[in-house]
Amino acid sequence: QGPDAVDIGSFYRETGYFTYDPGFLSTASCHSQLTYLDGKNGKLMYRGYPIEQLAEKSNFLEVAYLMLYGELPQQQQLEEFRRIIIHHTMLNESLKSFFRGFYHDAHPMAIMVGVVGSLSAFYHDSTDINNPRHREIAAHRMIAKMPSIAAASYKHSVGEPQVYPDNSLSYTGNLLNMMFAVPCEPFVLNPVAEKALDLIFILHIDHEQNASTSTVRLAGSSGANPFACIASGIAALWGPAHGGANEAVLNMLDEIGDIANVPKYLARAKDKNDPFRLMGFGHRVYKNYDPRARIIREMCHEVLEKLGDANDPRFELALKLEEIALNDEYFVKRKLYPNVDFYSGLIYRALGIPTNMFTVMFAIARTVGWVSQWMEMISEDNQRIGRPRQLYVGEKERNYVPIDKRG
Ligand code: ACO
Repeated sequence: QGPDAVDIGSFYRETGYFTYDPGFLSTASCHSQLTYLDGKNGKLMYRGYPIEQLAEKSNFLEVAYLMLYGELPQQQQLEEFRRIIIHHTMLNESLKSFFRGFYHDAHPMAIMVGVVGSLSAFYHDSTDINNPRHREIAAHRMIAKMPSIAAASYKHSVGEPQVYPDNSLSYTGNLLNMMFAVPCEPFVLNPVAEKALDLIFILHIDHEQNASTSTVRLAGSSGANPFACIASGIAALWGPAHGGANEAVLNMLDEIGDIANVPKYLARAKDKNDPFRLMGFGHRVYKNYDPRARIIREMCHEVLEKLGDANDPRFELALKLEEIALNDEYFVKRKLYPNVDFYSGLIYRALGIPTNMFTVMFAIARTVGWVSQWMEMISEDNQRIGRPRQLYVGEKERNYVPIDKRG
């Protein structure tokens, strides 16, 4: 327990001193009751429940309720929550023209940033951040509409008509249906795929103050509306050092191509003059095995076996890469272990989800974390705008030079 924010505030006002911590390696920016992360021991809990238990026993909507309201729902509360989410799955018809406006091969994350950011132009009854009911409706809308927007982005990229939500299906079943059903052809939902996606979504719901969540909080701290805040989170998630890593892992495995090439790429990853990094390895907080990676690794075996892709050479390659890296002095010394995204991409691939949709999948799940974090922050009594300082390293004071005198 350190001094609280008020103490630090008065210390700054009195002394003018502030800390320099690039990358926020050792600076906490908020209090939170949502997610506990012990990077040293590889432990992760949502609202006090170990991730392993939630992954085994719960489902995505139930965990979403837990994150938003603090407790696991009773049966009736869960049914009511599901009813509310279902109520919001449709997109306003005018939004369709937005999708048509994007270039045919636009990256789906680019479409997501734009379309989610535009939601505040449609839903004026949920943009008053000082009204708790508005905040709650915005949270429900976002969780409900994310799969519909994601599927529409995908359909646009493959030139197929959008599929309306089928509210008789589960959250992930509905997403898969909207992505892969085509008019005039029966679509058979695969329960293995539905369950695997649900599990991956639970694992990705929240991870305390990562880059995208901090972005959502920072945007929200200025009083921006929740749809704009989530759009900023999606933008931050897109980068390959964050949510884009799962896409980057698959591209890397394709590039490595063969187990025989592993040593060459490991040498590149260790070479400080080479920008190449082993994607899916390392984490700012985990200095032990990422508990999510352990769960997802097991699921990966199961999915590849059941969906008939067990001979995917990339999976064998990934296992070998992991084995070699975990025994390599460079990775051992720096405590670099596979993170959740090392395996999630392989599962997505087995489910038939195209590579450029991987980060979109992450965004759908993380939306629950983003809105929960945003709600938590906005509800605080002494919530203040996020405003980091900087160390100025530019020119000293100098006088303006007229344009005809500049040399
Ligand atoms: N491959 C090779 N070396 C690495 C890797 C890697 N993937 N990750 C870290 N290192 C090295 C660094 O070069 C550094 O070495 P040095 O001490 O000799 O200079 C040391 O390990 C520490 O790394 P930092 O960059 O200081 O770690 P940081 O906490 O800033 O970065 C990050 C964490 C961004 C996740 C990094 O490990 C990385 O780029 N990994 C690959 C991308 C990735 O998988 N991202 C997903 C993160 S999880 C998520 O968003 C869900």
